[in-house]
Amino acid sequence: MLTDNLGRRFYYLRLSVTDVCNFRCSYCLPDGYRPTDEAPHLTAAEAATVVRAFASLGTQKLRLTGGEPSLRADLAEIIAAGKATPGIRRVAVTSNGYKLPRVIDDWRAAGLDQLNISIDSLDRHEFAEFTGHDCLPRVLDGIERARALGVEVKVNAVLLADGAERRLGEFLHWLEDTPVTLRFIELMRTGDNRDYFASNHLRGTTIEQRLLREGWQLLPRAADAGPAREYRHPDYRGRIGLITPYSEDFCDSCNRLRVSAQGRLHLCLFAEQGLDLYDVIRTGDSDALARRVRALIGGKAASHQLQAQQVGATRNLAMLGG
Ligand code: 5AD
Ligand code: SF4
Repeated sequence: MLTDNLGRRFYYLRLSVTDVCNFRCSYCLPDGYRPTDEAPHLTAAEAATVVRAFASLGTQKLRLTGGEPSLRADLAEIIAAGKATPGIRRVAVTSNGYKLPRVIDDWRAAGLDQLNISIDSLDRHEFAEFTGHDCLPRVLDGIERARALGVEVKVNAVLLADGAERRLGEFLHWLEDTPVTLRFIELMRTGDNRDYFASNHLRGTTIEQRLLREGWQLLPRAADAGPAREYRHPDYRGRIGLITPYSEDFCDSCNRLRVSAQGRLHLCLFAEQGLDLYDVIRTGDSDALARRVRALIGGKAASHQLQAQQVGATRNLAMLGG
């Protein structure tokens, strides 16, 4: 099992399959996607080499991210290769949901276990304003279909200060009858969103205080759980999670490593730079790749320096899939 100097165990790989995105989320790509990296994206076979190498080091969970992973026509193939890799127990995808009703049956047939969909507002017009696409009903249809197929669904909502109380009310109403886990993510400052961050960041604790007042209960945390805190309520079918990267001990429970679509290892979302693995990946030698990753892991820092306003080389999360 891959372990760092602080005893953190990394059994979770987040593999970005493209940095391209068709959305223009206000905090991420407000002006739309612009290519920043000329290096080619990993092929499906190269992605499979990465998964084999990590699985040999103890990775049990694979998440495919972007940019927007559904923009790759061969995503189902990558899901299937991941699922077929010995040691990989769960395969998840994080998507903006734009194509969901059209692709979810194929993803499920390929072996998809879990789906995370981003919805920052349940108000159709606000959703369109936030993302640049008026497609909330389609995203919600896709979620229904995913659930009907037996895929576990989580919804990510980035906390944004203006209108937060109203949006929380709409989300709560939805969770009464919708058995999904909704996870509020504190807005993170990246290289590109400095001013946006300054006017929109909201601490997760504001939301948590309201949840506790309204009878939500914090669930005990599994020993191997990631950084989300989860709440349940007897009157609601859905659950709520909070992801608060600005809290003190956030990085202590880090269990993940990231590989970019160009084949760079990122020891932290906010690391200064990705470590190039492509020269090994392209040989298809997953044992050599595993040795390289093991050698690099010692360089993982104890914590990001977000509180100190340091955002490393991450200009936006489309570069690396969050
Ligand atoms: N801060 C917090 N969350 C972000 N995401 C993208 N950019 C940011 C940011 N700056 C979220 C997306 C998606 C997930 C992958 O990361 O909304 O839900
Ligand atoms: Fe939005 Fe994700 Fe696309 Fe960024 S990468 S614009 S957060 S959908």
